Formats: sequence, C-alpha cells, structure tokens
Amino acid sequence: MQKIQTIRTIAQMQSLSKDWKREGKRIGFVPTMGALHEGHLSLVELVRPQCERLVVSVFVNPTQFGPKEDLERYPRNLEGDLSRLAERKVDVVFAPEKGEIYKKEHATYVEVEGLSSVYEGAIRPGHFRGVCTVVAMLFNIIMPDVAAFGQKDAQQAAVLRHLTQDLHFPIRFLVGLTIRESDGLAMSSRNAYLTSAERRKATVLFRALKAGEARIQAGERDGGNVREAMKDVLSGVPEFKPDYNDIVHPESFEKVNEICGDVLLIIAGKIGSVRLIDNLLVQQKT
Ligand code: PAF
Repeated sequence: MQKIQTIRTIAQMQSLSKDWKREGKRIGFVPTMGALHEGHLSLVELVRPQCERLVVSVFVNPTQFGPKEDLERYPRNLEGDLSRLAERKVDVVFAPEKGEIYKKEHATYVEVEGLSSVYEGAIRPGHFRGVCTVVAMLFNIIMPDVAAFGQKDAQQAAVLRHLTQDLHFPIRFLVGLTIRESDGLAMSSRNAYLTSAERRKATVLFRALKAGEARIQAGERDGGNVREAMKDVLSGVPEFKPDYNDIVHPESFEKVNEICGDVLLIIAGKIGSVRLIDNLLVQQKT
C-alpha cells in the first residue's frame, strides 16, 4: 500500500509544490474538510488523470461555520481519511492546524458578491466568505494546475468558479458529479449525524428533486408548478423542515420562472438537527 505523506506546515507544502513546478509536474488538488466518503474519492479519480502530483487537503475551516453551527462536532478522523486515500495514488495530504492557516493577526477575507448572498448564503451568512477565503489561501499554498469540487455543493462550486476566474488563478476548475447512496441520498459527511429513522426520511430530498425533474421532462415550463411538485413530495415528510426549494439558473442562481434552458433544482433544510442540501441539474434536450 502506498504511504501518503502528511504535511502540516505551509512552508513545507509551498516548498514541495515549488519543487514539483520546477520539475514541470502538473499539480492536482482536492480540498476537503475530511470525513472522506465516496464523493470525495470520486473527485480524486476525476483529477488524477489530469496531473502528475495530487494533493488532498483536510482542514475543518472555522470561518465557514456560523456561531450556532456544527464546527465543534464536525466529524474528524485523519487516520481514517488517510486509510481511505491509500491506493488512490495521492501524493500528499495537507492537514494544517487551525493556527497555521489563521494567524492571530489574520484580517483578510475574500468575498464573491451577489452569488454569495442568496440561498445557502442567505441561510448561512458569512459561510461563502469563509469558504472563499480558505480556498484562495489553499490555492496560494498548493499552487495547483487543476482542482475539483463536488456538484453536491452546487452553489459553492458556482461561487468558487467565479472566484477562480475573478482572481485569475491559473487553475483548471472541475466539478464532479454527486455520488449517491443506493436509495438516492447524496453522500455527505453530515449524513453521519442522522439517526436511523432520520436516515430513512432523508431520501425525501432526492425524491422531491426527481418529481421536479419528471414534471420538466413531461413538458412543464412553469417554474411555479415544478416548485409545487417538489413541495408536494417534501410535505409528505413533515419531519423535514425546508429552508428553500427552488428552480434556479445553474451558474447565476437566479430564480427561474419560465423554463427555457438548463435549470438547477435545489433543496435544503433540516431533519431534526441535521441540515441537508441537494440539487439536480435538468438539461433541456436539444
Ligand atoms: O466543500 C468543502 O468541504 C469545503 O467547503 C471546502 C471547499 C473544502 C472549503 O473548506
């Protein structure tokens, strides 16, 4: 089994990345907060053919959690993560401590305006600012040529694509498909919080998305009717408390009222204390 090098300091990571660049090696990067599952591993598979050196970061980023969110209880298991990455041809796991990334005097934040303040951004104020700040730092530390993010967090992917373009990071931006359990539940590190009863109910998000998709595929063009179709399914599970349930443009996240191109169906909410989000891209047949 391949032994993966774990790097804890920025200086060591940057120096290794510079060596790789000098040798002409293309660097691939998959940022994570650990608690790795098949979704993360699929991103590793997506990036690997496009690079000669591959870095996975494991860092539970405090600035993207709100004061009442699950920063303290977020699952952490670096040893488990390293064993999941074994045999995946990952060269380095970059796993810095909080104080290595955020120095005491840290005062610089990165924000993608507009897109960061709707849907997830409206429910979780400051969340995308934290995500953008840490991802910009990780890009500067790892200096990747290609990086991959999951479609499961569709708005995060759209925000970070914007950031990559706006700040002229010379990075190929890839988005990997959502990986699902056999009953449709999107894989997420937070699924581990669900009790077995909640876990059974959690399939309602995917069922509602599929109901919306079926309406569009049957020719429905009124966004309101598609929203209603999703809502009908969601209301069948009263334990699910939706934050939003909508049809948006896949990149701008503007609400779609009349469907005339590709759209993204998005749902977020809570079952008990566990917050779940999911989405489905519905493409128009040409
Ligand atoms: O998607 C995540 O796990 C995180 O938001 C990311 C991109 C690693 C930044 O902390």
